[in-house]
Amino acid sequence: MNLPGFYRDHNQTLCVQDLKISDLAKKYGTPLFIYDTGLMKQRYEAFLDAVSPVKGNIHYAVKANDSISIISYFAKLGCGADIVSIGEFKKCIAAGVSPKKIIFSGVGKENTEIELALKNNILQFNIESEEELNDIQRIASKLKITANICLRINVDISPNTHKKISTGEKSTKFGINFENVKTIYQRLHDLDYINPVGLAVHIGSQIFDFDYFFTAYSSLKSLADELKKNNFQVPSLDLGGGIGINYQNNIPPDFSKYRKIVTDLFLNSDYNLSFEPGRSLIAEAGILVTKVIRNKKNNDKKFIIVDAAMNNLIRPTLYEAFHEVEPVNINHNHKITADIVGPICETGDFIALDRKIQSVDNNDFLAIRTVGAYASVMSSNYNARADANEIIIYNNKEYLIKKTESIEKLIKKEILLKYF
Ligand code: LLP
Repeated sequence: MNLPGFYRDHNQTLCVQDLKISDLAKKYGTPLFIYDTGLMKQRYEAFLDAVSPVKGNIHYAVKANDSISIISYFAKLGCGADIVSIGEFKKCIAAGVSPKKIIFSGVGKENTEIELALKNNILQFNIESEEELNDIQRIASKLKITANICLRINVDISPNTHKKISTGEKSTKFGINFENVKTIYQRLHDLDYINPVGLAVHIGSQIFDFDYFFTAYSSLKSLADELKKNNFQVPSLDLGGGIGINYQNNIPPDFSKYRKIVTDLFLNSDYNLSFEPGRSLIAEAGILVTKVIRNKKNNDKKFIIVDAAMNNLIRPTLYEAFHEVEPVNINHNHKITADIVGPICETGDFIALDRKIQSVDNNDFLAIRTVGAYASVMSSNYNARADANEIIIYNNKEYLIKKTESIEKLIKKEILLKYF
């Protein structure tokens, strides 16, 4: 058995478990997402080990990759789920996750979503405003079902990540400001059909300086300790997700540093902790295989035009994100500098700009790395492009987990107006 993840064999051919990526690309077509359960398991176990000294549960943040097979795999390993929509709830149920292990986060839960979640007795709602509490309370008393409520706190921290995925500052739409917490927490005790379960925090995603976690968790703990001193019930603290991963090399995330922060703060406390990792469990376990359509040259500028585009992977253009791109088979050593771009009619449609890469021929395959998280989930059918196929590798065999929607099928979703 080979090491978990994607590796090169003695012929420099990119492989996963015992399979060659080029064989999979030929069989399933491109663009093709490939996920490795071996790496997913290794990551889950490493995270579990990091938080094992404290009392807590892992709730996989489904938004990172909501494929039902992937949710199901993490559930089989022992994860609960962190969701932000009733769509994600339904996916979790389809994947076999017990509602008792589901945390419903998000700033804009609709009444119909709240009702369905309540009827299914989910573990808890992480709420973000007093207005949301009022809505949940009204629906809970109508249904006569008690809602477990956790308050997401805005700790006013800027964790030095991309501004679009930074959620800890006061100016963002997220969480409840410190000064309002006590009043709202009091109401959790006074209202019928409401059960207080604690406090939550999530300051953002792709965070490398773990001191920000330390500061955020310390604030949360002090607040919880103070509430407890005032005879409030605060059994649980939800510490969110956000651990950064390396897109430029394959060095795994530093879970040991995370372990130190969590144990320093919570080793001897009796809070029941929840963790919501997304990216750090799945990102590196995914690649996107794409085929070179054409090499193009405009004077000195080189372009490698591939069949994956911003509709498959929007991260480079949306967040200026870097994804490693490498040839699936290494045929020679001649390096060029080129923009690797898709066929979509926008300058923003690129996978990589000014990238030094081994020169490739038309029809060669390239692997875009570290796309297990926030790639397929953020895809679209822009330019009437069909979705990519997706396969997962388990015990040295590949399984199709998402089928390409043909354009004919996409057209069938539409209604042609007959009145013109
Ligand atoms: N919990 C909550 C409440 C969240 O909002 C998120 C992510 C997570 C947990 C998981 O965070 P993670 O461990 O994955 O960092 N599309 C962006 C990332 C958006 C993250 C949104 N919230 C990207 O491609 O970088």
